[in-house]
Amino acid sequence: MNNIKTGFIFDLDGVIVDTAKYHYLAWRKLAHELGFEFTHEQNELFKGVSRKRCLEILLDIGGIKATQEQFDTWMIEKNVDYLAYIENMNASEILPDVPKVLEYLKNKNIPIALGSASKNAKPILEKVNLLSYFNTIVDGNNVTKAKPDPEVFLIAAEQLGVAPSNCIVFEDAVAGIEAANAAHMVSIGIGDANTLSEAKYNFKDFTEISLAFLDTLIVH
Ligand code: BG6
Ligand code: MG
Repeated sequence: MNNIKTGFIFDLDGVIVDTAKYHYLAWRKLAHELGFEFTHEQNELFKGVSRKRCLEILLDIGGIKATQEQFDTWMIEKNVDYLAYIENMNASEILPDVPKVLEYLKNKNIPIALGSASKNAKPILEKVNLLSYFNTIVDGNNVTKAKPDPEVFLIAAEQLGVAPSNCIVFEDAVAGIEAANAAHMVSIGIGDANTLSEAKYNFKDFTEISLAFLDTLIVH
């Protein structure tokens, strides 16, 4: 009998797989076509942010005013380019020690959710062969409000049947940490601790997270 009341929610891009670099390449290609540069620093603003909002920010950076038709075309173009970059992704692109953590939680029958802004989440999890670890997938197709709104994580908690305050969220984006905190969940920043200073706990990556630490988070 599973009497565990804790749920774990994982962001996808930058937490499970390093797809941030492919998002960056696709946005940079569009920026170049539109005649301006798009830097790695500017890409930080795109993490955790919906595709639509990313394009709005990109056009602001380039000082470009788009018609609705152009906007829609560029949204599609970016995604077509992004899909080409991720087409051949495989398990080698899973970030270090992510499978170890998923396996540990799964063996303990702890419910696991994906909470991602991406509309490409499911095919990516399929490509890297991790889909079966997740009890539920909540992604950009299921939400009306993007991170930092807590909606994506609150839906995930509900689908897991776990109280929000007993959910643990792994996030690499400032917007994602804000969303987890707004949902009254335990936020764990994966990446740069200075950037993710609002997180309850910070780790560079999953190699720094011990199984003993995970145990401390699990409420019985
Ligand atoms: C987030 C990424 O996970 O998903 C963002 O951090 C991205 O950079 C967003 O814009 C939406 O992704 P997609 O795959 O639907 O364009
Ligand atoms: Mg992310």
